[in-house]
Amino acid sequence: MKIAILPGDGIGPEIMAEAVKVLNALDLRLETETAAVGGAAYESHGHPLPEHTLNLAKAADAVLFGAVGDWKYDTLERALRPEQAILGLRKHLGLFANFRPAICYEQLTHASSLKPELVAGLDILIIRELTGDIYFGQPRGRRIAVDGHFPGAEEAFDTMRYSRPEVERIAHVAFQAARKRRGKVTSVDKANVLETFQFWKDVVTQVHAEYPDVQLDHMYVDNAAMQLVKAPKSFDVIVTGNMFGDILSDEAAMLTGSIGMLPSASLDKAGKGLYEPSHGSAPDIAGKGVANPLATILSAAMMLRYSLHQPEAADRIESAVQAVLSAGLRTGDIWSEGTQRVGTREMGDAVVSALHGKAGTATKTITKS
Ligand code: IPM
Ligand code: MG
Repeated sequence: MKIAILPGDGIGPEIMAEAVKVLNALDLRLETETAAVGGAAYESHGHPLPEHTLNLAKAADAVLFGAVGDWKYDTLERALRPEQAILGLRKHLGLFANFRPAICYEQLTHASSLKPELVAGLDILIIRELTGDIYFGQPRGRRIAVDGHFPGAEEAFDTMRYSRPEVERIAHVAFQAARKRRGKVTSVDKANVLETFQFWKDVVTQVHAEYPDVQLDHMYVDNAAMQLVKAPKSFDVIVTGNMFGDILSDEAAMLTGSIGMLPSASLDKAGKGLYEPSHGSAPDIAGKGVANPLATILSAAMMLRYSLHQPEAADRIESAVQAVLSAGLRTGDIWSEGTQRVGTREMGDAVVSALHGKAGTATKTITKS
């Protein structure tokens, strides 16, 4: 099995090093090949997604991706910005189904900005359509307006659009995922205003006829944003478009106390996938050895489960992460009084020790508050 390792920018290389360490500790026959992506690739190859990197990602059985982006590239023309790498990979690999779980670990209930009783035991799954919508819709650009409020003025425009097959396939993914969970799908739209999302709602409703065992609700996106902070546990699977999914998934991630804990998977129609932490490249803490590697380590677990058909190995990683949390080890983003603050590398080492049945020697030094 061949894995393309794309560390990227900011904290990407540091967190990726820990995930690779954990994968190597599993004694699976995994072949890894690393390539540049994002700002790092722009520096070395003049493009955020060099052909070599794209070809490696296409040829591999799965892609493990760190993070891309840095403010210093904000003035580059759009096609050369680091974000184009992840958008290009999604498009060229056909990764239309993005799974973003928001799970509140029992050990971290108090790290959430919401009251503990609202988030304790939270386990929701956002399924975001990832290759359509206003992100990729054509036409887009700048022009001189011929109509609207200011004819003759400069304007910019993007196109929101979804075709029937695009909505159908993501709806199937959501209903099938719900069957393996608590059997409930909330389709999030803006059908009260947007034609695209009235169509989305109609198509999701039609696909639902094939899944009578799954409960389907519809919710407007503004209300969904509100319900996520009011009663997050009322959701099971949320399915939505690319743009709304981008926004709601960050909101949902934060409910759990740390975006540094959340993995994600982006799958094509055959189950091949790209796996990445839900957080970004955090250039402000890059190179300091303090970033939380657990989201990337858990992304590697998701990769083993979904694309490499190694569920036992995935379980082992997830149990090891639970063990280090129970042992009280915390990176700065999830640290609280009475737990032990560790760096990126120590956290990775602790997960490797826990894989071998040693749940972290650091417990002894925890001071109880
Ligand atoms: C995400 C990110 C990306 C997106 C950016 C980096 C292009 O915010 O994966 O959620 O908007 O999809
Ligand atoms: Mg986002």
